Amino acid sequence: MLPYYSVILACIVLVQAAIVKRDHSRQYYTLHFPQGHLDDATHHYARDIAHSLGTRYEGQVGELKTYFVVSSTTTQSPLEKRSTTSSSTSLSPGDDSDDPVVASFHQQKHQALVKRWDESHTFLWSKVQRIDKQKLRKRSKRAVIPPAPVLNTGKLVLEDAQASLGIMDPGFTKQWHLVNQEHTGNDINVTSVWKQGVTGNGTIVAILDDGVDYKSRDLKDNFYAEGSYDFNDHVDLPTPVLWNDYHGTRCAGQIAASKNDACGVGIAYNSKVSGIRILSGEITDVDEAAALNYKFQENDIFSCSWGPTDDGKTMEAPNGILADAFVNGIENGRGGKGTVYVFATGNGGDAGDNCNFDGYTNSIYTITVGALDHTNKHPSYAERCSAQLVVTYSSGGGKSIYTTNHGSAECTDIHGGTSAAAPNAAGIFALVLSVRPDLTWRDMQHLCVQTALPVDLKDDDWKKLPSGHMYNHKYGYGKLDTWAIIEAAKVFKNVNKQTHLELPISMTKTKIPDTTADKHKKPLQSIVQVTQDMITAAGLLRLEHITATVNIEHQRRGDIQIVLQSPNKVESELAAVRVGDASSDGIHNWKFMTVKHWEENPVGNWTLLVYDEINADSTGHMLNWTMTLFGEMDPEFEGEPVHRPGVNHDTSNEGTTSGDKSAPSATPTQNKDSHAPPRPTRVKPATTSSSDSDSASPAATTATVTSHMNDDESVSPGGSTMAGDGDEKDSGHSGFIYAFIGTAVLLGLATTMYLYKRNQRRSPSLPRQSSAIPAMDYEFDELKPEDEDEDEDEDYVQGTADDRPLLSQDQGRQVR
Ligand SMILES: *[C@@H]1O[C@H](CO)[C@@H](O)[C@H](O)[C@H]1NC(C)=O
Ligand SMILES: *[C@@H]1O[C@H](CO)[C@@H](O)[C@H](O)[C@H]1NC(C)=O
Ligand SMILES: *[C@@H]1O[C@H](CO)[C@@H](O)[C@H](O)[C@H]1NC(C)=O
Ligand SMILES: *[C@@H]1O[C@H](CO)[C@@H](O)[C@H](O)[C@H]1NC(C)=O
Repeated sequence: MLPYYSVILACIVLVQAAIVKRDHSRQYYTLHFPQGHLDDATHHYARDIAHSLGTRYEGQVGELKTYFVVSSTTTQSPLEKRSTTSSSTSLSPGDDSDDPVVASFHQQKHQALVKRWDESHTFLWSKVQRIDKQKLRKRSKRAVIPPAPVLNTGKLVLEDAQASLGIMDPGFTKQWHLVNQEHTGNDINVTSVWKQGVTGNGTIVAILDDGVDYKSRDLKDNFYAEGSYDFNDHVDLPTPVLWNDYHGTRCAGQIAASKNDACGVGIAYNSKVSGIRILSGEITDVDEAAALNYKFQENDIFSCSWGPTDDGKTMEAPNGILADAFVNGIENGRGGKGTVYVFATGNGGDAGDNCNFDGYTNSIYTITVGALDHTNKHPSYAERCSAQLVVTYSSGGGKSIYTTNHGSAECTDIHGGTSAAAPNAAGIFALVLSVRPDLTWRDMQHLCVQTALPVDLKDDDWKKLPSGHMYNHKYGYGKLDTWAIIEAAKVFKNVNKQTHLELPISMTKTKIPDTTADKHKKPLQSIVQVTQDMITAAGLLRLEHITATVNIEHQRRGDIQIVLQSPNKVESELAAVRVGDASSDGIHNWKFMTVKHWEENPVGNWTLLVYDEINADSTGHMLNWTMTLFGEMDPEFEGEPVHRPGVNHDTSNEGTTSGDKSAPSATPTQNKDSHAPPRPTRVKPATTSSSDSDSASPAATTATVTSHMNDDESVSPGGSTMAGDGDEKDSGHSGFIYAFIGTAVLLGLATTMYLYKRNQRRSPSLPRQSSAIPAMDYEFDELKPEDEDEDEDEDYVQGTADDRPLLSQDQGRQVR
């Protein structure tokens, strides 16, 4: 609720806008002259009418050429007359017929127009359309909701922060994401936290990006050189070198720009930032893996505003050594409390992309952060998905983020995309860790779930969950509120270690019914029953993430929609239809993830619903899937948890399509044959490669195509700024791709240079030792659940070892 003074201010502002001087002893009215009746003499007509009404002519209403104000002396206080409950400010004629001025208006207008005694009189009164009596109280109330009053409250917060914290940064007033003066409350609510002295002391955030301008006046004092490295040029300092190496600097400014006389302030302006440069050129998986763990005893949070191409058709995950790097960060980073990885959902919203097709954002180890614009709406570029945990402010609705820029005291007000959301979240988490450095990576996720604030409640995807929280695939649990998360963090009780329950569902290869034109939408359904016994045996006390590892063959991958329905009928959209994804690769051991069932009771029947949409003539089959429930382990649990009841026990997954798995062992073999063309596309090994191969029959075609792609890549080594060219390559549909790439590169150079950056990254390097570990025997420890797409790594071992030194594959990461 807005404080009382804001209402007063609102009145004043409003009145000032409408009438130059307001005298509370007078009653005000507006005369309305419709647009079509206006001429140069309109104000004279208004004056004349004011005169015939016995009122005083006050003037035009601000910039509104069709309204004029008149006033009369009155004994009646405007505040007393408030009987109408209509929310409209403009009263219909007649509403105030007991008011002498209004009554006189109607009477005179009637006489002039109907009786037509005097021609000039008739002319005059034909010009004016209506009179509205002004009711002060009503208008001020109404104005409280939209801009005017709001402006003042925000301003007060801002001025208070400037005064009490000594913020002199000239750009602070432009940092609406910190204090929104226009739409009060549409900001991260941080100033009260700063006033408690919580400003990020002791926390270090690593910016994995294209470098950090540590010479910038805004960053030099908070730059942490010891945690920094340049994996592109292999030198110690992450100096921005390329003309467009400004992205990392902007992100760093959002987090740790100093409170000084340059630009604005960072969210955690006494925290430190490291720069880890990986996006400005080629790096290998080895380098990327090393970057993801770089100085992870010192760097607490890794802010990552990049990922696979967001073109609505890429499906790519960190596999092998990269997957291991994440697990390593989680298990060993920050003294075992776990590195906090923050990833942007991606900017492929307009391309119909979904962050569950990105293995970085749908990993349980990363906090997936989406964007919210300054009006609390979902910007169209921002991707949605069930792996999205929270949102925070970024560009959209005509405004972007104001932050530090490359240069000694440069600033920019065009930083945006989900790229700018991730660092805002990282900055907030830096404040959280400065208060509670002992929190684990999972504690941080719990805090997000518990304190995020739902926004834009009219959006129809909001769902009230059994846990009591609200969830929306576009907003996750809502927006981060710094004050709320800090207050919760202060008293947060660390969660116990993680356990999981893995339920492989093998089924006979089943055709997916086409639901394109089917009104009743009878999808393929696969049910898995979770019993209390399984939960108990796994020691699972409280549910957190769920993954569904899916195998589907399909002629057109983008047609597939997959929904996971819980026993409580909560539905997670795991795979959204992607109109642009024409790949015939299908879905192979892809791990979809959802956070929507957090804290839900998992006991009962879970149903996977698979729809085949868009094109009736492309078809597919479901092979199998595995549901894995992750969560907090019961501290009382004793003994060895049973993670895979089917395997470890005789307990079959009764009443389900599921069964125990002899299946897993089959996986590697199957995929192996197909791996002929080693890592052809720039798409990460995982999905694409395995997929290329698997879809047996179309495999031949795809294989050829992909190897071509490979040539292509060597010809045009990245470096360009085009987002598009990367995409084309992945698609695996060669044909016009060459032409397209050519065009795309040109176009790209000419236009898109700014948000996108390309980097070449290399090839499948060290595969995991997977061949040595048949899936069957693979037992996971707590905290080390099956890493992303393990099977794929295995296949891709093959192709890689030999080719590795030869290939320089483009596994571009697109900046967000
Ligand atoms: C913002 O912080 C204030 C404390 O300064 C708190 O009272 C309020 O609930 C927070 N959230 C919102 C949305 O205002
Ligand atoms: C945080 O660091 C700043 C700058 O070094 C210092 O002025 C301030 O007193 C510190 N605050 C706390 C709470 O330690
Ligand atoms: C769960 O599914 C099994 C068969 O798949 C069925 O026998 C059982 O009744 C279902 N339970 C509920 C609660 O629907
Ligand atoms: C599912 O099918 C794929 C492809 O046929 C196979 O590699 C995998 O082992 C199977 N997994 C399960 C859980 O049945």
